[in-house]
Amino acid sequence: MQVYLNGRYIDHSEAMIPVDDRGFLFADGVYEVVRIYGGRAFLMQPHMRRLRAGLAALHIEGDVEDSLTDVAERLIRDNGVDGDGTIYIQVTRGVAPRRHAFPDPAVSPSVYVFAKPFKQYPDDYFNTGVAAVSVPDTRWTRCDIKSIALLPNVLANQQAHRAGAFEALFVKDGVLIEGSHSNLFGVLDGTLLTYPSCNYILSGITRTLVLEMARELGIPAAEAPIPWDRIDDVEELFLSGTTTEVMPVARVDDRVIGGGTRGPVTTRLQQAYSKRARG
Ligand code: PDD
Repeated sequence: MQVYLNGRYIDHSEAMIPVDDRGFLFADGVYEVVRIYGGRAFLMQPHMRRLRAGLAALHIEGDVEDSLTDVAERLIRDNGVDGDGTIYIQVTRGVAPRRHAFPDPAVSPSVYVFAKPFKQYPDDYFNTGVAAVSVPDTRWTRCDIKSIALLPNVLANQQAHRAGAFEALFVKDGVLIEGSHSNLFGVLDGTLLTYPSCNYILSGITRTLVLEMARELGIPAAEAPIPWDRIDDVEELFLSGTTTEVMPVARVDDRVIGGGTRGPVTTRLQQAYSKRARG
């Protein structure tokens, strides 16, 4: 597999970074995961906008973002990704002796990109739903930055994995926030709810698309939290994300959600998503 590292297209087995890369030492960087459908990047522009916003938030300067769309397209071509796939983009502050403050003068950011085939999750995940576990949200208060510092997400997801569940749902101050690698939607009292876009969640590209599709379909929706103490009243629950797409949640911990299978709002949004993504 060909990958892109700091201006060069090389084989994955030859891609190496210096031990002083600040991504390795401090998780000082941001990333994006973009979906490929039929060999074409899906929603590349909003992903690039979010990457640019993340770089600005971390004060990582340098002209890294403009050419990345071309880089991704070349990797898709060179690696023959003509069906489903993912593009991964990571930018770190660069390589410098370990010191917390930024290198002065600034060093060139390290840029790594790969594109590879993605094996879709099993059909029943989408047809009947997955299990999730609830976990306390121990993350920092800048979850809006798609930082490569993902330790709380990794630990939460491992807890889900150990429990035989697909996702861990973060609960903070008595409300459901989002998943360890996905956003969360629920239908409560007939309204589609998702946590408001703010510093406590990653505002997903798929989340924005779901809200747009809900508007188009005339589904009543609001950016408002789902209280944990109303979990038994939730009619439908689903995850949204680049790899997760629109995926129903049938169970949280030992509670069955709604009818214990995919609900009608989820189904309509899945169909709308499929039309957008796969044409
Ligand atoms: N995760 N929330 C979190 C914490 C995420 O890590 C992600 C994406 C999302 C959904 O965002 P989007 O719709 O833009 O993919 C929400 C990616 C896919 C990952 O880390 O692999």
